[in-house]
Amino acid sequence: MKRRDFLKTAGVSAAALAMPGSMWAALSGLGADEIERRVKDLVAKMSLSEKIAQMHGNITAEHILVEIPLMSKRRFTWNTPADQRLGIPGIRSVDGPRGSALGQSTCFPAGICRGASWDRDLEERIGTAMGFETRAQGGNMHLSPCINLVRHPSGGRNQETFGEDTHHVGVMGVAQTAGIQRHVMACPKHYAANNQEGNRFSVNVRMSERVLREIYLPHFKKCVDAGAAGIMSAYNDLNGHLCGQNKHLCREILKEDWGFQGFVVSDWINAVDDAVAAAQAGLDLEMPAGAHYGGKLKRAVEAGLVPQSMIDESVTRLLRMKLKFISEDMKSGYDQGMVAGPGHTALAREAAAKGMVLLKNDNAALPLDRGKIRTVAVMGSLADVANIGDKGSSSVNPPYRISPLQGLRDRAGGVKIVHESGANLGRARQVARAADAVVVIAGATSKDEGEGGYGLGDRLDLNLHQQELDLIRAAAPETGRLIVVLEGGGAFTLEDWKDEAEAIVMAWYPGMEGGNALADLLFGDENFSGKLPVTFHRSEDQLPSFDNQAKEIEYDYYHGYRLFDKKGLEPLFPFGHGLSYTSYKYANLRLSAKSIGQSGKLKAMVDVTNVGDRAGEEIVQLYVGYNGSRVDRSVKDLKAFGRIKLEPGKTGTMELEVAAPELAYYDQEKGGWEVEEIEYIVYAGPSSRSSDLLQSTFKISGP
Ligand code: GLC
Repeated sequence: MKRRDFLKTAGVSAAALAMPGSMWAALSGLGADEIERRVKDLVAKMSLSEKIAQMHGNITAEHILVEIPLMSKRRFTWNTPADQRLGIPGIRSVDGPRGSALGQSTCFPAGICRGASWDRDLEERIGTAMGFETRAQGGNMHLSPCINLVRHPSGGRNQETFGEDTHHVGVMGVAQTAGIQRHVMACPKHYAANNQEGNRFSVNVRMSERVLREIYLPHFKKCVDAGAAGIMSAYNDLNGHLCGQNKHLCREILKEDWGFQGFVVSDWINAVDDAVAAAQAGLDLEMPAGAHYGGKLKRAVEAGLVPQSMIDESVTRLLRMKLKFISEDMKSGYDQGMVAGPGHTALAREAAAKGMVLLKNDNAALPLDRGKIRTVAVMGSLADVANIGDKGSSSVNPPYRISPLQGLRDRAGGVKIVHESGANLGRARQVARAADAVVVIAGATSKDEGEGGYGLGDRLDLNLHQQELDLIRAAAPETGRLIVVLEGGGAFTLEDWKDEAEAIVMAWYPGMEGGNALADLLFGDENFSGKLPVTFHRSEDQLPSFDNQAKEIEYDYYHGYRLFDKKGLEPLFPFGHGLSYTSYKYANLRLSAKSIGQSGKLKAMVDVTNVGDRAGEEIVQLYVGYNGSRVDRSVKDLKAFGRIKLEPGKTGTMELEVAAPELAYYDQEKGGWEVEEIEYIVYAGPSSRSSDLLQSTFKISGP
């Protein structure tokens, strides 16, 4: 579907459709110069009190007490005050990465599932739908995307982000930002290094400047370069300073180095503890209330502790984005009937089908052929549960949700679906024996992982629950076609039971349409294309340190596939892995040049052939390695990826591009980026560890 047609089906108003080509054009229709003129004019007219009133939320304390218990049912936005005298609108912000938290909105698959689609166009369409639904229900800022890296499978909010790799997360984060900002302000979060929940309000994350610049920031920079309106600061400290009060992060890097034109907004409540430090560091907006900016900030300015110029800068940033994105008639042309309407729920189903990953499929256990399979047993405590993710700020309250059992029943055709919870193993054995195929749904729920403070937080036990392990082991000997479908926000420890199952599917938290998408895939009406955005370890001692009670933790340069490569570790399923009902052959990797300059671009072309008997979409990945670098470098880094649709027997050419500056390392002594004039290795293929990876080399020399 063309983007424009999609926008039409999404009920986007004629005004929005008429928007100039650039997705960053002001929704208000005002040109950049006009915006700057109006901002200057407004700031000149504002009193200090009026300026500071723009810099904090106006949520009352009991509002927060109401909000927490009703997290998944909330009907309101988190606001800042309008200025009636000057006609300045207030911000009305809404979570989150899984869809609009307002009303009964579309619950998309969790971000990690969409990360597994590696489909930036799909992600932009999802962002567009999310932004539409927030705007149609009264919001003007959508607090998403979450782009914190998956550093360890235990991270409670891994489900909200896209994966472990900064390039991949950056591309997907930009796509979602672009979509959201077709309708409202977006707010990539949490800036920065927020990767664990247990101690998120207190931990001091320590890392070198090089690790910060090369690993934990580039995905934020991609979103800033793409025009994100807001950036939300994280709760944790970074190198000794609370992120929202971290001058290096918020002023020196974000605003001075990157030229960010939007505003920095704090995370909620615990993300600010000192008005002066926050203002001096460049925090422009305290949410959800003015605990520090409400009274103390004015007194600090009057006492000369915070220069008026800093206040003016913050207000300028806030007004600039308000004038760019907020117009009088925000809801007109936005048909409420489109909220969780057929266009968006179909998109949720498409995303779930593209995000689920076929990890293993021995003896062609899948797809389930309706012509040959008479009975399918669907088992497990999650079989009849629509497991859509945690109950934290990213929760969404959709009008309906489809469980795996319901999806399989609705799409079974003539196949008999038998449901068995698995609580009684004797009965489970009998049911398995009598069926032609057994599908066990297992994994994590909001009781096992999620945002800290709303539930358990980090998932410290990476194993399946004992009841599920017992069920898998009971059913396995009774069937030659055991399919285990895993749900959750990231990797599980599968080593000791993976051989019991003929097939294993990672379904993540698949959203309100997850049951239908799973059935589409298991019956073969859809083909798998998803690939892992995170590494699945073989044993937990392969993983980086994770201590969610520590006061301080050091992040080093390696995690995920880059750690496994560097240490020569064998993952169970590598980053980028995913099977299909067809198979692909890679050939003929060729590069646009043998040498490029320091600001040059390299094109890599590789031929992909569908050598199977059914159509499919293959995700082609391009990694780059370094020969003779003067510093420690990873074996290879993901630098580009794309999806290619192929009919059986057809060959297509994937063209991927890498810019030389993307290969630079950060020289922390010099305080700048260094593009080395060395030889680089290009790897192109189906995953980070595939034996099918093709290699070639090129050099960088000269300007
Ligand atoms: C939460 C989350 C943040 C969310 C905000 C508003 O604490 O950390 O992601 O957007 O508060 O709900």
